[in-house]
Amino acid sequence: MTRQLFVTTALPYANGNFHIGHIMEYIQADIWVRFQKMMGRPVDFVCADDTHGAPIMIAAEKAGVTPQQFVAGIAAGRKQYLDGFHIGFDNWHSTDGPENHELARQIYRDLRDNPEGSLIETRVIEQFFDPEKNMFLPDRFIKGECPKCHAKDQYGDNCEVCGTVYAPTDLINPYSALSGVKPELKSSEHFFFKLSDPRCVAFLENWTQDGKLQPEVANKIKEWFTVRTNPDGSTSEGLGDWDISRDAPYFGIEIPDAPGKYFYVWLDAPIGYLASLKNLCTQRGMDYDAYMANPELKQYHFIGKDIVTFHTLFWPATLHFSGRKTPDNVFVHGFLTVHNGEKMSKSRGTGLDPLKYLSLGMNPEWLRYYLAAKLSARNEDIDFNADDFMSRVNSDLIGKFVNIASRAAGFLSKRFDGKLGVVPEDGAALLHQLRIERTSIEMMYEGREYAKALRETMLLADRVNAYVDANKPWDLAKQAGQEARLQGVCTVCIKAFRVLTCYLKPVLPELARQVETFLKIEPLSFANIGEPLDAGHVIGTYQHLMQRVDVKQLEALFEPPALIEPAQTATTTVADTKPGGEDIAPTISIEDFARIDLRIAKIVACQAVAGSTKLLQLTLDVGETDDAGQPKTRNVFSGIASCYQPEQLAGKLTVLVANLAPRKMKFGISDGMVLAASHADEKAQPGIYVLEPSAGARPGMRIH
Ligand code: 2FM
Ligand code: ZN
Repeated sequence: MTRQLFVTTALPYANGNFHIGHIMEYIQADIWVRFQKMMGRPVDFVCADDTHGAPIMIAAEKAGVTPQQFVAGIAAGRKQYLDGFHIGFDNWHSTDGPENHELARQIYRDLRDNPEGSLIETRVIEQFFDPEKNMFLPDRFIKGECPKCHAKDQYGDNCEVCGTVYAPTDLINPYSALSGVKPELKSSEHFFFKLSDPRCVAFLENWTQDGKLQPEVANKIKEWFTVRTNPDGSTSEGLGDWDISRDAPYFGIEIPDAPGKYFYVWLDAPIGYLASLKNLCTQRGMDYDAYMANPELKQYHFIGKDIVTFHTLFWPATLHFSGRKTPDNVFVHGFLTVHNGEKMSKSRGTGLDPLKYLSLGMNPEWLRYYLAAKLSARNEDIDFNADDFMSRVNSDLIGKFVNIASRAAGFLSKRFDGKLGVVPEDGAALLHQLRIERTSIEMMYEGREYAKALRETMLLADRVNAYVDANKPWDLAKQAGQEARLQGVCTVCIKAFRVLTCYLKPVLPELARQVETFLKIEPLSFANIGEPLDAGHVIGTYQHLMQRVDVKQLEALFEPPALIEPAQTATTTVADTKPGGEDIAPTISIEDFARIDLRIAKIVACQAVAGSTKLLQLTLDVGETDDAGQPKTRNVFSGIASCYQPEQLAGKLTVLVANLAPRKMKFGISDGMVLAASHADEKAQPGIYVLEPSAGARPGMRIH
């Protein structure tokens, strides 16, 4: 059996676009996966949308679409982020896929029917119920007055004013955040995972404390075995049972033999890891069961510190007591905070929007490098600081690393037709020093100590630069009879650059690809780093590998979004001699008009487009279904980004030219055109106005 790695990142809720925290986690895991692949180890790296739960169901209802349409709209926007930041998942799936429904139900049956005694039991509990919406309310959808400080409109689980933790039933004058009505207490049968079962406690005490987890994580978990905080703020001893069911209506997976009962989203979410892997196996024609049965399989999950309980208690227990393999490790990271020092004041915004970053043409590898330079194996927060970002990228990455190639390549191509020469003795010693660091750099990547790996690599780059400064190729170039020496010194630089590129490749995959093309070499890996580049090897022409960060880009990145009010942008300053600045088009017949199929479309989702300042990407519901009768949406790009923020359009109705031939654009296929009004002279009279029908129009209705 071959050694096989199965790696995941946490599955993001399909209720919004990625934020910088998601991107940081994906970059952290992607670096590790790329490193493993460079070591020649087979890895499958998967993720999926976490689609279920009440908040997504409610958001879909608000948007007037089915939950399936809603999550499809979110899924459509994922690719541009992942491609944009070179995040190379082998598969992206959905927890609403058939694999997850099937696996979750089977895992539940296995827990229920455990031969040594069931791990599932039912209990009747009392919960707030919204009589108007006819549903039980999740804590976050119950509001009321804080019992302690009497602040109004506080959520059902804790007070944001005084910080008190309580149960929803403690609220004074509670009301449903969905309908506004007073909720009623109603009892219902719930399913529980018996985490307090002595078998479970014994298993988890061992699983969490056997040395695999990060020490700070294991220590925190230890406390949960002795004391726990109840929803009402009181404390009890040891692990409590876990409520894994929710009542209909709920967007989720129905519990076997329990009509109207659904798995709580957190039961089926991690099973989504396996479902995504199973889906990948199917795509490749591989047997999922055989894959999971491989004794050489190692399973790793990258997660944030806020979801440790789910991954170190519930998830391993779910797997173990259903007779399945448990994770080999869970790697926990802290949060990314965005502080911009004194220069970038708070009033100018503190968020870092990943798509805006890409739209501004900022290099994704700057961010990969910067985050890697701050990441360690510890569960600790890291801070994004704009000044620090600029200096690390410009001084380290460009000043120390990229410059090595640019300093040497010019001489080689101008004087020696790009041909490498013989390495002088002092250069051989330097190259040896670089190569012997390989093992320790490998260990740093393996141990997720990226900051250390980069620091070490930059120290090596310093040595190469010191070698260049000592040998002064620019002087050698002016001296007669020094050709061989010049060629030798530049050869050392290029060989050193190759080794350094290998060390940086997990972090900078695209730059490494460009270097491989420039040096005309096979893809770099840790295994082939020792192979020499022979004298006589001809390298390509050097082309600038990376721009420096411009402070203007950072200023633009943190500029708060200008919420443009379309109605205020156009001011008529000159009397138009022609309506809207242009003549009415030549007359057409009613038959001509009938050929244009205009439909009402619902904007299910709307987002910015990475790499474009003009376009917005719209996911539209035009009331269409696919061959299987499932609702389907359309993707349309529209040049309205100058006048609309995505959030201004999501959920609105508009008009679509539905029978326009699909158009292939740089960012994907645009299937139709959304109607919008503008003045013929957009410069003089700016403003674009997306059409909206009167109330009552429904998606799919034709406009006659
Ligand atoms: O906290 C979250 O964003 C969850 N959607 C993470 C789920 S991870 C896994 F269990 F699916
Ligand atoms: Zn309070």
